[in-house]
Amino acid sequence: MLKILVVGGAGYIGSHMVKFLGRRGCSVTTLDNLSGGYQEAVLYGDFILGDVADRALLDTLFSRNRFDVVMHFASFIQVGESILHPFKYYQNNLSATLTLLEAMQAAGIDQFIFSSTAAIFGEPQQIPIDETHPQNPINPYGRSKWMVELMLQDLERAYGLRSVCLRYFNAAGADPEGQLGERHDPETHLIPLVLQVASGRRSHLSVFGQDYPTDDGTCIRDYIHVEDLCVAHWLALQSLVKGDPSQRYNLGNGQGFSVQQVINTVQEVTGRNIPVVYERRREGDPARLVADSRKIRQILGWAPQFIKLSQIIEHAWKWECQHLHPG
Ligand code: UFG
Repeated sequence: MLKILVVGGAGYIGSHMVKFLGRRGCSVTTLDNLSGGYQEAVLYGDFILGDVADRALLDTLFSRNRFDVVMHFASFIQVGESILHPFKYYQNNLSATLTLLEAMQAAGIDQFIFSSTAAIFGEPQQIPIDETHPQNPINPYGRSKWMVELMLQDLERAYGLRSVCLRYFNAAGADPEGQLGERHDPETHLIPLVLQVASGRRSHLSVFGQDYPTDDGTCIRDYIHVEDLCVAHWLALQSLVKGDPSQRYNLGNGQGFSVQQVINTVQEVTGRNIPVVYERRREGDPARLVADSRKIRQILGWAPQFIKLSQIIEHAWKWECQHLHPG
């Protein structure tokens, strides 16, 4: 039985992963400081309240448990906040990750799966974005993730620590069974915000920019279902334990949907009208971000299951209705 440490297992993607691993008979331990997560979202295994920057805690944890693989989901994710508060991002996303990796190395744990991001590429030079696209992050959030990826290359060379970096494009959707979902505070992501308008928790959606060089003038993103992200982690885990070398994969559906298409689909799925206020562009938003995920399809056989935007929104809507609507 595989023994996995999930750092950030109480957060949005981490909690789905814990359930996925638990369902497949893995022994799972979650380490989370609950700064952005919820303990009740951890449906399987042990839960340890603590910070990934706490080296003494990590040493104790690793001396008591022989983990095969560490999965690291715990990071701050708001681009705008990272520009205003870079220390916060470099401290948590970079320095705390370094502490985790040092503790792993000291304990002889040498397999690591890292949640990276499309933000490492910066302004796209071509679409879709494959793994050969130049990495030129334009904000501290993206830089903190890219620095970890670079660090991992050095650690592999020096210590043989093998890793898989999964660069998520726009993670979206929710547990198809309705037990888990996206719950950020504050929420900044498009799909949950539109659904909060649909459920009546918000009066309207602000659309940031209607003058992009796209068909309807709004930005295009590649929304990938959280369950498909879990499958990618699962395949990455199998490949690491089998002894495969380190890899970096871009993870998206390969299809782009505009903000306006998301709004239209939410209206169709929910049957509710979405009042919209058009505002100026949000700083740092590229017009188009679409992944080329052929590499992970070819090497690991990954094939996303929930590729329709309507399915992603249906699952997220189920979560919004069941768990978050005040009425
Ligand atoms: N948007 C709106 N109104 C809102 C919120 C978002 O119009 O209230 C628009 C944004 O301008 C953007 C699109 O909806 O065009 C998607 O925005 P999100 O904030 O949902 O997602 P991003 O594409 O900005 O961010 C995602 C990940 C980040 C990652 C980034 C890579 O969530 O972690 O892609 O650039 F850094």
